[in-house]
Amino acid sequence: MTDKLEIRMPDDWHLHLRDGAMLNAIAPISAAHFARAIIMPNLVPPVVTSDDAHQYYQRIQAALPRGSTFQPLMTLYLTEESDPDDITAAAQSGLVKAVKLYPAGATTNSQSGVRDFDKVRGVFERMAEIGLPLCIHGEIADNTTDIFDREAIFIDKVLEPIRSSNPQLRIVLEHVTTSNGIEYVKSVESGLAATLTTHHLVINRNHILAGGIRPHYYCLPIAKRESHRLALRAAATSGDKRFFLGTDSAPHVDTAKETACGCAGCFTALNTMSILAHVFEEERALDKLASFTSLNGPHFYQLQPNSSHMFMVKQNQPVEFPPCIQTSEGTLTVFDPGFPLFWQAEPMQN
Ligand code: NCD
Ligand code: ZN
Repeated sequence: MTDKLEIRMPDDWHLHLRDGAMLNAIAPISAAHFARAIIMPNLVPPVVTSDDAHQYYQRIQAALPRGSTFQPLMTLYLTEESDPDDITAAAQSGLVKAVKLYPAGATTNSQSGVRDFDKVRGVFERMAEIGLPLCIHGEIADNTTDIFDREAIFIDKVLEPIRSSNPQLRIVLEHVTTSNGIEYVKSVESGLAATLTTHHLVINRNHILAGGIRPHYYCLPIAKRESHRLALRAAATSGDKRFFLGTDSAPHVDTAKETACGCAGCFTALNTMSILAHVFEEERALDKLASFTSLNGPHFYQLQPNSSHMFMVKQNQPVEFPPCIQTSEGTLTVFDPGFPLFWQAEPMQN
């Protein structure tokens, strides 16, 4: 039995770090487990301009522990008014690594996102020209469409047309939750990749809805039926370069989750690596863990893998994770995978 694995330091290719007190509480947690992360721009107001990204970058740096080498990879929030020249400047300065497309109304703080895709045609053309990736929240934002179908319909109605009119645009279909998404990404040889979250490898829709409603499993895109979860696990553990980790760790305090109209998002940053090691071991694919967490992402983003390493060590007793964290904004529940975790992450320098 393998009980100690050395892997390259992982990266998180989709992370919500928030702002203010929440940022201060959670930034050190991601920084302990990941070398870099793609930072989501859906603050209120959103991170739209290079100037916004620069200021947010500095607030993140200020929230990191002294001496931390964690690198926030910034993104810009695409609006119908986004300026291609400003995006180009932000990319060329090295600050911004991607632009994020939220269909308006699709998820938390997406109201400033895109309604009319014709209005962002110039931005897509410029991004294709300069090689800047587009990260996409791939759900149709239409209340007449069944919530469980929104990803599959988005792929046909929105993603395919964007790709065919911008064949050079490099795209990440984020937090894929369906076998339709997996098959679509697999059908494209290059220029398209997908992130997969930790929680979607572990839960299906029964976890949210059967035997009582469990708000801490509610996230967007919503978890689908079991056959989809199995397709996600197969893709994550396959080693295929087109699939990599984006935790979508998205903290909301308990009062915002445990209410009549609760927010979407699971906070997984703290135990993600332990959960992933468990999943990969179950799938007899521990040898593919580093591809998913540490190699495939840098390959797509055309960055070097990290030079530092981490140990994943299997304990005899379950690792004790706190069920929640206290922040000055309130209590934050940690994602509960529903099974004991034995793998512990032990970062080490070089
Ligand atoms: C995210 C959030 O809370 O910002 N929520 C979520 O359920 N994933 C937004 C998002 O990534 O869709
Ligand atoms: Zn997200």
